[in-house]
Amino acid sequence: MAVPYTTSEHDVIVIGAGGAGLRAAIEAARQGSATALICKSLLGKAHTVMAEGGVAAAMGTVDLHDNWQVHFRDTMRGGKFLNNFKMAELHAREAPERVRELEAWGAVFDRTADGRILQRNFGGHRFPRLAHVGDRTGLELIRTLQDRAVHSGIDIFMEMTVIGLTKDGDRVSGCVAYDRKTGEFQAFKARAVVLATGGIGKSFRINSNSWEYTGDGHAMAYRAGADLIDMEFVQFHPTGMVWPPSVAGILVTEGVRGEGGVLKNNQGERFMFGYIAEMFRAETADTEAEANRWLVEQQAAVRPDPATAARRPPDLLPRDEVARAIDAEVKAGRGSPHGGVFLDIASRRTPEEIRRALPSMYLQFKELAGVDITREPMEIGPTCHYIMGGVRVDADTGMSTVPGLFAAGEVAGGMHGANRLGGNSLSDLLVFGRRAGLGAAGFARSSGAVGQDTAQIAGFIGEAIAPLDRVSGPSPYEIASQLSASMEKNVGIIRQADELEAGLARIAELKEVYRSVRVSGGRDFNPGWNLAIDLHNMLTVSEAIARGAIMREESRGAHTRRDFPGTDTRKWAQVNVTIRVDEGGAMTATPTPLPQMTPELAKLLEG
Ligand code: FUM
Repeated sequence: MAVPYTTSEHDVIVIGAGGAGLRAAIEAARQGSATALICKSLLGKAHTVMAEGGVAAAMGTVDLHDNWQVHFRDTMRGGKFLNNFKMAELHAREAPERVRELEAWGAVFDRTADGRILQRNFGGHRFPRLAHVGDRTGLELIRTLQDRAVHSGIDIFMEMTVIGLTKDGDRVSGCVAYDRKTGEFQAFKARAVVLATGGIGKSFRINSNSWEYTGDGHAMAYRAGADLIDMEFVQFHPTGMVWPPSVAGILVTEGVRGEGGVLKNNQGERFMFGYIAEMFRAETADTEAEANRWLVEQQAAVRPDPATAARRPPDLLPRDEVARAIDAEVKAGRGSPHGGVFLDIASRRTPEEIRRALPSMYLQFKELAGVDITREPMEIGPTCHYIMGGVRVDADTGMSTVPGLFAAGEVAGGMHGANRLGGNSLSDLLVFGRRAGLGAAGFARSSGAVGQDTAQIAGFIGEAIAPLDRVSGPSPYEIASQLSASMEKNVGIIRQADELEAGLARIAELKEVYRSVRVSGGRDFNPGWNLAIDLHNMLTVSEAIARGAIMREESRGAHTRRDFPGTDTRKWAQVNVTIRVDEGGAMTATPTPLPQMTPELAKLLEG
């Protein structure tokens, strides 16, 4: 018997209500589009809150030497030059305006003594560039955007999971979703759809993400025929909690190091001095004395002259460099008792300073680990935090290779290249959320009417309910835990061909097992059923990551191959790995050239 569903029609549908989704929906509504916002969880709960330490924007409020050109350069160097240069340029140019807009909308940033927005240091950023609200910046950003969105005439659908994108010919025509509380289905028809579904963290055992991040947007875009790029680049944030096991992976903000915190091994050594990559040597302090002088200079009322200032400590190298160094220390037997290393702020700043700048970290360690970070070091280790890869988009509009389908934020690829700098995600989602909202509204206005095929709707619903109809079969929990354990072991921080092949083979086996996944109970309030649906996406994005990682035979940014330790400046320097579905439904990986950078921008990267 056909399963009933309700229908609705909008100009623009935004899927995902983190920072990118909220900003896109606000913009689409501002352009006069009838806009719907669908969120998997409750409004206001998103991975955006995990960008704790700040939003990167070259406002120069703390150091006047900062400007968009330096931000562009830092971002490209951090991304190991694989970034979509046009996105990196737009991002660096527009981020300050987006932060000021956010302030005008009610965000309350920390201030300098003379009342300007305070900016802190972060890894890979040459100047203090992260506007922040203590260590709760993402939360303040979401709160502000949410306040704005609920007064913008947007139809908001909470606790709904989207299960597929419908198409009318080549063009996207809406989506199908179900209500996680009641299990009822709804078809949303729209002229344009914006994906803002965030990342894929749940494919890895230790991660900083919450349950929503199962790669839904990546997988649905791929199935709808969109290109994915750079899926091999998965960011392991260097500092997640490691103990106790129940909280392993929870983020410890990079703001701790931005405020002067240092990494130490079990010998008490500041080991990062031994891991300064050639590319960053000129700007990185190589002695403890100089690194300590840097901290004193940063705290002084008058900014140091960049020509004579101490260089930045190696603890503030980009995340890929730091995560690899921690991994190496642990493997060399110099780790902490629970398999991480130590992060010490207690010996660097006073308890009052720590509690003022890092209030959430103070409470997090006190309450979850019984550690007082004003007196003791933290135990930390890498945690899967972010994926640089995603839907290939047009830099100006955010449109994917499928007409009418847009993407913004973590689900979009290109902006961050091979490695994202901390703080660039919040500015990314403001800049490109707005642009995708504008692009989608413009597309909806100028494109003709769209039809939604009932057979496609019924197909998505049929697939979704199949696990409930089976009388026997494997549990989705079992498959999910085997998948995330295998991804961590075989497709983790350090990779090599035979392990990657083993990981891919495991995904193929689990895909086969998944075909008979079974869930008991009904459609209402059924977490097992919800997971069974998410698993389809987790398997798809995991395969894309493994295929990209096998193809890229070099080490670059967050992708490190033990069997190809160097960065290949010829074959792979100017190439994305593009993931597509072929006509038979199989996944293909193809190297595709990057666009050629303009000479003006290329000049900014010299030296
Ligand atoms: O460490 C952090 O506060 C995370 C920031 C980010 O991912 O941008």
